Amino acid sequence: MSQPSVINIGICGLGTVGQGVWKHLARSRAALESRLGVRLKLHRASVRDLRKARAVRVPASRLTTDPLAVATDPAVQIVCELIGGTGVAREVTLAALRLGKTVVSANKALLCAHGPEIFAAARKNGGHFFFEASVAGGIPIIKALREGLVANRFGLIYGILNGTCNYILTRMEREGLGYAEILADAKRLGYAEADESLDVEGWDTAHKAGILAFLAHGAWVPTRAMLVEGITRITQTDLQFAREHGFAIKLLAVITRDFASDELFVRVHPTLLPLSKVLANVNDVYNGISVTGDVVGETTYIGRGAGQDATASAVISDIADAVILLNRGNSPLPAPVAQRCPLAPPERIRSRYYLRLDVRDRPGVLAQIATATARAGVSIADMVQRPSKHRNAATLLLTTHESNEQAIRATLARFRRLSNVLGEPLLLRIFAS
Ligand code: NAP
Ligand code: HSE
Repeated sequence: MSQPSVINIGICGLGTVGQGVWKHLARSRAALESRLGVRLKLHRASVRDLRKARAVRVPASRLTTDPLAVATDPAVQIVCELIGGTGVAREVTLAALRLGKTVVSANKALLCAHGPEIFAAARKNGGHFFFEASVAGGIPIIKALREGLVANRFGLIYGILNGTCNYILTRMEREGLGYAEILADAKRLGYAEADESLDVEGWDTAHKAGILAFLAHGAWVPTRAMLVEGITRITQTDLQFAREHGFAIKLLAVITRDFASDELFVRVHPTLLPLSKVLANVNDVYNGISVTGDVVGETTYIGRGAGQDATASAVISDIADAVILLNRGNSPLPAPVAQRCPLAPPERIRSRYYLRLDVRDRPGVLAQIATATARAGVSIADMVQRPSKHRNAATLLLTTHESNEQAIRATLARFRRLSNVLGEPLLLRIFAS
């Protein structure tokens, strides 16, 4: 009997995700090897700092500080890029693909910024690029969109795609804790990006939305063409108001395709989501995605969206697919061929809105607010007054009837011109589908 072939794996980056992959591959290797019919060897790994303590034990002879040496090592067939960012990670990815190697990546920022270049490099040189871990942690959403739902056109995809933000919003609401304290926990637990502003300002969600839009519609939407807002201005007042009115606040990515005009629209913003929706009840570090296809109807996916183990699960699934490809030539369905697609301007949003603003507590101010909204063509549905942190002031919380982005922006512009309005009002959208 012939010996099974050996597949050498190189891991660039042994941080939260890299160590998870090393740990779980070492644990599940025998089972995977028997299913895949090959021997898997963790051949080499790269780090930035050789002296840093690691939770996994890697022989010194297999560690380097040069990720390119791993990516271009002739013995390495599968390169896992788990460094992050768009600098060294891009060099490593392209160097491996140019040598016809297979790259497994968790790097949504890189894919969103350089997707066409990466896929072109893979195609040109016979390499392959797998990226299941780039969106929604352990949820196999890439496989679902690329393979399981291939029969469909997608009018609406929306979801919670950032574990850190969902963890922060959940604990703020449940425990009444401050934002900064919970963010520190999210970092300690390995959920947050090295630059956590990517999480809380909405950019990480935007990167993931860009990848889902590409898989669903074949078009790369740059983040500059998306509406992107984060969670940094959400307070207890907003969370309480939402709960009392039957909503949860979730940072949502919303990807819509209007089949009549063909327009595609990708946006990311904190949203008041009715508690009757499944995703309004997806909490902590969990992500949830609703995908509506014209053939299948609505499908929903829920699972851990960040952290070492969930992400390692997705990376190892890609490694298994890569092995099958290398060993038997079975390739998964390719990603769609990139195409141009008209992008809808933000003015297309129609929504009900929530506004929070601090105003001077004096006669006539409510009338000024009502006049400003009426002049902008926006109709108030509900208004309540709460104590303000400012002296001699009140916090107004209002919701509107359905309006549109132009009218609500005109309302905000009018508010800003009123001397009785203190600071910048907060605007959130209320989900309707
Ligand atoms: P991390 O903990 O910061 O680990 C990054 C690793 O890359 C570390 O081993 C670091 O070395 C190494 N590294 C960083 N900069 C480098 C450089 N300039 N040159 C060489 N090596 C460098 O990050 P992570 O959380 O594992 O994330 C890795 C990737 O997975 C990112 O693309 C991230 O967006 C993605 N991702 C993360 C999660 C998650 O839950 N954490 C989930 C899904 C996807 P040292 O250890 O020596 O510092
Ligand atoms: N920082 C990301 C998150 C990691 O919190 O969702 C998973 O992509």
